[in-house]
Amino acid sequence: MTIIDGKATAAAIKQEIAAEVEEIVKKGGKRPHLAAILVGHDGGSETYVKNKVLACEACGFKSTLLRFEDNITEDFLLRQVELLNNDPDIDGFIVQLPLPKHISEQKVTMAIDYRKDVDGFHPINVGRMAIGLPCYISATPLGITDLLARYGIETSGKKCVILGRSNIVGKPMAQLMMQKRTPGDATVTVLHSHSKNIKEECLQADIIIAALGSPHFVKADMVKPGAVIIDVGTTRVPDPTRKSGFRLCGDVDFDAVAPKCSFITPVPGGVGPMTICSLMKNTLLAGKKEIYS
Ligand code: GUN
Repeated sequence: MTIIDGKATAAAIKQEIAAEVEEIVKKGGKRPHLAAILVGHDGGSETYVKNKVLACEACGFKSTLLRFEDNITEDFLLRQVELLNNDPDIDGFIVQLPLPKHISEQKVTMAIDYRKDVDGFHPINVGRMAIGLPCYISATPLGITDLLARYGIETSGKKCVILGRSNIVGKPMAQLMMQKRTPGDATVTVLHSHSKNIKEECLQADIIIAALGSPHFVKADMVKPGAVIIDVGTTRVPDPTRKSGFRLCGDVDFDAVAPKCSFITPVPGGVGPMTICSLMKNTLLAGKKEIYS
């Protein structure tokens, strides 16, 4: 059984990106520039955005953080998006989610110029991904396909069960696993809260990608010997022994499941570190105008 090291893989990819950026700059090219909009003071969002800014530094990118209070209006935020759309120095930007309830996340996402949408959330990028055109792919699915590729995990012809059907993980993950390329070419089953026979379906799977947000949902008796297990869950559970007061809990009962697997991602240190790395990959592509010129 191999534990997939997302932290080390992400560090290696960031080093590769940094080396490429220095080459670009040495040849007189533009240093990629990522902007992030953060609205309010949500603890999780603050941490994510701080880590995104640090990752930009590690990759040699320029970064700009725009912070606003959570009482801003939707119109004000849409105007900020428009300013970034029209700023020629900004190659890509993100609006950190969730947004305050009075602001429509969908309206804001749709207002972002798809050519700068390095989150890959805009319907044009989602649609292009579905039909296999070059696009920005959202962070978690891209990070997972990178892990599968870097660990040489065969996906062609394999039965892949995806647990969860969210717009940013389950659905795009299913699209990528069934795409006509590597990683991909898998036979994909998407299971969700209304699915029947979940245990039986999982027992058939060569690869299980768990993205339900339900701590320890995947038990050892749901896993075929030799299966590949990718755990996307990061539920915060109270833990008084930690300084933060919580720990992250995956969707997989790791201790019981790991001995049965060929490969498994831990939580933390598996998929999580790869997501920011994916954003860096998309920002590099944006800087190079590689997808949309
Ligand atoms: N909130 C949680 N994950 C993400 C992400 O990948 N992008 C944005 N914009 N917000 C998030």
